[in-house]
Amino acid sequence: MAKTRYLTGITTTGTPHLGNYVGAIRPAIEASKNPDIESFYFLADYHAIVKCHDPKAIQQSTREIAATWLALGLDADNSVFYRQSDVPEIPELSWVLTCMTAKGLMNRAHAYKGAVQENVAVEGSDPDKGISMGLFSYPILMSADILIFGGQKIPVGKDQIQHVEMARDIAKRFNHHFGETFVLPEAVVGDGAVLKGLDGRKMSKSYGNTIPLFDTSKKLQKSINKIKTNLLEPGDPKDIDDSTLFEIWQAFANEEQTQYMQEQFASGIAWGQAKKELHALIDNEISEARERYMHYMDNLDDLEATLLQGAEKARSYSKPLLAKVREQIGIKPLNA
Ligand code: TRP
Repeated sequence: MAKTRYLTGITTTGTPHLGNYVGAIRPAIEASKNPDIESFYFLADYHAIVKCHDPKAIQQSTREIAATWLALGLDADNSVFYRQSDVPEIPELSWVLTCMTAKGLMNRAHAYKGAVQENVAVEGSDPDKGISMGLFSYPILMSADILIFGGQKIPVGKDQIQHVEMARDIAKRFNHHFGETFVLPEAVVGDGAVLKGLDGRKMSKSYGNTIPLFDTSKKLQKSINKIKTNLLEPGDPKDIDDSTLFEIWQAFANEEQTQYMQEQFASGIAWGQAKKELHALIDNEISEARERYMHYMDNLDDLEATLLQGAEKARSYSKPLLAKVREQIGIKPLNA
């Protein structure tokens, strides 16, 4: 049976946190070990520059994300792990697709529309204030990412479903006009949990409520101590519903451990104690990976070499496909 090809990109802004781990990284790494699946995972650094114009931050985030995925045990034999900017066929295909994409389709993209609406809400402001062409055409670059490798299943968060549907539309249009070229991709909404952050809202860099994944063990405890709880005293029974702490516990616990904590809540565990136990639970799951992470971060030559190897593997797929695309659109040797 042919393997199903999974492909997903990670925008290289920010430091990986527990929410990223539980929601995306852990399930993706599990999938990379499944023999029925072929995974393409990449660092979307050309996507990162849409919003972030700080070169140091881009480079640092790329290091941290690469080191995180490798440290957590991505199966390098069964997957292709690369940096978008190392695959020049992606931006090249992106231009070709740009020429096949209706502007009206891009007008409908939620991210762009949202930015316009925010502007319009401010009286007298230009609707396109602060909106770059990069933001506007972002879904086309994302389509090129997917289509160049024939990605079939695209694990994404809910906010990205529309972009995958656009990639599908663009692929169909190209296939219709120039002949069968691209596989039609399909979004799969991650089976990972959506984790709450320190303040009880969704854990997200933009809310500043994250718990970084690979801080030192001591800093991890400090972050955990900041998880919002209530004023119930030790001995007071506590409710697991609406408890951020319990929810995070659950994301790391097996059934038995979940039941254990449920009982602890009912019998009035002190918040301080629960936070200590949560720290121990998480630390147990990630401490070996943390060592490997630190090793990569101290050996950036190795990290760079690993990415370049991944790019070579990736390009063994992207080069022939781009050659085919160029041929189909009539960009070819004059005597051919
Ligand atoms: N836009 C995605 C995000 O912000 C990241 C991304 C870039 C991506 N290219 C992709 C995801 C291709 C899936 C497939 O989350």
